Amino acid sequence: MKVLVTGGAGFIGSHIVHRLVESGDHVRVADNFTTGKRENLRAVERDVEIVAADVRDKDAMRRLASGCDVIFHEAAIVSVPYSVEHPEETNAVNIQGTLHVLSAARHAGVRRVVFASSAAIYGDEPTMPKCETMLPDPVSPYGVEKLASEHYLRAYHRLHGVETVALRYFNVFGPRQDPSSPYSGVISVFASRVLSNEPITIFGDGTQSRDFVYVANVVDANLAAASAELAGGRVYNVACGKKTTLLELADNIGRAAHVTVNKTFAPPRAGDIRDSLADITRARTELGYTPRISVDEGLGLFIRYLRTP
Ligand code: UD1
Repeated sequence: MKVLVTGGAGFIGSHIVHRLVESGDHVRVADNFTTGKRENLRAVERDVEIVAADVRDKDAMRRLASGCDVIFHEAAIVSVPYSVEHPEETNAVNIQGTLHVLSAARHAGVRRVVFASSAAIYGDEPTMPKCETMLPDPVSPYGVEKLASEHYLRAYHRLHGVETVALRYFNVFGPRQDPSSPYSGVISVFASRVLSNEPITIFGDGTQSRDFVYVANVVDANLAAASAELAGGRVYNVACGKKTTLLELADNIGRAAHVTVNKTFAPPRAGDIRDSLADITRARTELGYTPRISVDEGLGLFIRYLRTP
């Protein structure tokens, strides 16, 4: 199969690319290298077509979609607080970028688009676990953008017959997640600080919770979403179905790394949701998805990766 991965040099995208190459697929990567890195693709660079391109560039997306059977659309600005501070920029990348990808898919006759959506679309309504039938109610520009993109996916399916699948990622972690920015995912930040004996900062009291999921599970869900016999326009939660508070997370990282964690506290971040936990029944039933790597196992693998020179 010939595949385009937008954001293919990024954290999740590069893991999808590696797995596709292993399966013998022909892979084209589009990445603007703002947060994506060429070194994330070093091991497969001879087997992959890598193009510097931005999803805001409609013509580039049209050229890149040509000849592809499937697009994995991972390119995005992924930070909730960044979207609170820079909503016009995240809107252009996260909504208009998705629209360009869909329009490119339509014109190129791409069979299926698999989209990286987010648990952020559920917002702060307290019912847990989150199930795909619940009414979305995003509280950040980022959540609004992912939800709007899901609607565009469904519209393109209905109007133009493009098969679309939106995967609502919960909190993904693992190798190649960049810890270096204040907008980075919490596990990458905590783990890198703990390993260099620096204190971690918890925004809020640490009782907020997330459903963390190791990146290999997310790749499994993507490959299943690309090949399963599905009605178009479907959405699926992708998570472990296990709740971890930030205080528990800090302890679990300390235990996995065999070090004492030094915690400091700061005010909660604007736009953050409080709790997040997924019901993954639909993905299990319709995609055959199962989180084969548990959160604890994933933490161990991630810490081993960080310690490997
Ligand atoms: C994360 C993802 C987002 C994804 C969503 C799905 C990132 C950067 N964000 O958003 O793309 O769509 O999950 O659920 O990968 N925190 C601290 N200290 C820190 C960093 C964070 O206490 O140093 C807290 C935050 O305030 C928040 C929690 O950890 O309560 C999680 O934050 P973060 O990792 O940024 O993820 P989400 O905002 O949940």
